[in-house]
Amino acid sequence: MSPIIDIENVTIEYPGNGARVLALDGATLRVDAGETVGLVGESGSGKTTLGLLAGRLLPRSARVTGGQLRIDGQDVLALDDQRLRALRRECLGYIPQDPVAALDPTMRIGRQLELVLHGLPSDTASLRHHLDSVQISEPDRVLRLFPHEISGGMAQRVMIAMAMARTPRLLVADEPTASLDSHVRTEVTKLIFNLAAKAGATVLWLSHDLRSVSRWCERVVVMYGGKVMEDGPAAQVLRHPTHPYTIALAASDPARAEPGQRIGTRPFDPAASGTEMPSAKLAVGGGR
Ligand SMILES: Nc1ncnc2c1ncn2[C@@H]1O[C@H](COP(=O)(O)OP(=O)(O)OP(=O)(O)O)[C@@H](O)[C@H]1O
Ligand SMILES: [Mg+2]
Repeated sequence: MSPIIDIENVTIEYPGNGARVLALDGATLRVDAGETVGLVGESGSGKTTLGLLAGRLLPRSARVTGGQLRIDGQDVLALDDQRLRALRRECLGYIPQDPVAALDPTMRIGRQLELVLHGLPSDTASLRHHLDSVQISEPDRVLRLFPHEISGGMAQRVMIAMAMARTPRLLVADEPTASLDSHVRTEVTKLIFNLAAKAGATVLWLSHDLRSVSRWCERVVVMYGGKVMEDGPAAQVLRHPTHPYTIALAASDPARAEPGQRIGTRPFDPAASGTEMPSAKLAVGGGR
């Protein structure tokens, strides 16, 4: 069986201020159907870029300058618009970090959910069922509201309902709980993984939260400077990291700190470690 995610040596650039930014620098990742994978790494390491790449959802300014990508066996970079839309619709669920920004401010929640369900039952009872599945109380009222009328936690539940509405084979969740209070965060994380398990979806969970990755993901992939640095069973990688960056990342996890202990804000300094590492932001020539 072919892997559901097969990213091979992909390089992606964004235009930067006078120089281009190498967001992915030969990233390689293979994920089999049914796996739960936590993708961790410091800010700017390329997690979001890699997550967006899976659905070719990258901003227009991004340029894929090398490598290959197959999602569910399909050569995503070569798909025409129609087949790309079909792949997104039939295979992919995407939960963004900022749900409020991802919702259309001009459209009621019910209408947005209806559009996602295009071709599937979308009568009021079906819409209500999808909101029920993410534990939204008073679904009938919520269906009539606009995004600015609901809380961040509620908006994230709506995004989860939309991402799961078509029973995706692959769910990419980009720090979906980062903007939520800690008690809501735990609840929403549990909800996402339970729904994904019920749907039989493969999960790629982009996160800074090592504790929740080790709680919910069987495998962890550590990124730095647009590359995969370490990859293995979550329990092993996070408890016994071998790569210097992973060691530093695990050591900077607030959940592991002793009371009163200062936590480093820069988890890893390649220069100080003497390890050859790519720079997180690499200028690769003049801007476009
Ligand atoms: N739209 C963009 N335009 C220009 N540069 C970008 C853009 N998006 C990302 N980058 C750059 O690409 C690199 C990788 O960014 P990316 O957002 O993928 O990292 P990340 O690991 O998701 O970070 P974070 O943890 O902060 O979300 C960074 O250097 C970032 O500044
Ligand atoms: Mg990100």
